[in-house]
Amino acid sequence: MNLILLGPPGAGKGTQAKLLEQKLNMLQLSTGDMLRAAKDKGSEIGKKIKLIMAEGNLVTDEIVIELISENIDKSSKCAGFIFDGFPRTLYQADALSELMSSKKQSIDLVIEMRVDDSQLIERIVGRYSCKECGEVYHKVNRPEQKKGVCDNCKSINGFIFREDDTEEALRTRLFNYYRETSSLIGYYYAKKKLTMVDGLLPIQTIHDLIYQATKNNL
Ligand code: AP5
Repeated sequence: MNLILLGPPGAGKGTQAKLLEQKLNMLQLSTGDMLRAAKDKGSEIGKKIKLIMAEGNLVTDEIVIELISENIDKSSKCAGFIFDGFPRTLYQADALSELMSSKKQSIDLVIEMRVDDSQLIERIVGRYSCKECGEVYHKVNRPEQKKGVCDNCKSINGFIFREDDTEEALRTRLFNYYRETSSLIGYYYAKKKLTMVDGLLPIQTIHDLIYQATKNNL
């Protein structure tokens, strides 16, 4: 089973991918995480990526397709892939389809996570994550259980905010979502792969709905 989580910035793709990974022995492939790792290396390409991401613009199709392809090749032992934040353009969607075919696999399910723009702003400006393990929190919706201690890895080394989690960068990210990515909803609907989930529901309820959708798809 290979699935795509599709939705605007802050829709909850990463949160749901982590929950599904644990439950279904699947592997999350997040191009955002891969790009953040590449930019932290400080190479020339890393510096370019850093600037593009901080402004909220899309990195080139070639770079993200290359990253996805490398990571798929490295990971053969999981029960399937959860694509988080990829594809984001029609070009990427076609490339993914070819990549899957070349491995005699396919995309089985695409979950569209729908959330109002006003809620996205609140989610994005309230988000922070553990410096050590990257566990994602929210000031109001999901604070750590014991203040200053990561629920996941128990680190007390603090939390960080993402550079692109500003209102200004979010406006650009949303614009790019509607301009480049939202056409994928029609693309996967036409392929009969699409299921819509109300992304405003509580995190656990959304997880249960997505889990059920994966079961219906088997
Ligand atoms: P990426 O890292 O993919 O960011 P994004 O798509 O903007 O999505 P986010 O990670 O911001 O949000 P999410 O949907 O994962 O939400 P989360 O679960 O964290 O991409 C970053 C950048 O990299 C892009 O702008 C671009 O520059 C580049 N890039 C990446 N992929 C690319 C590609 N394929 N092509 C080109 N460029 C690419 O949740 C958000 C917050 O809400 C959290 O605090 C969480 O706790 C909370 N929350 C989650 N669910 C709920 C809920 N149900 N109710 C209440 N709160 C909730």
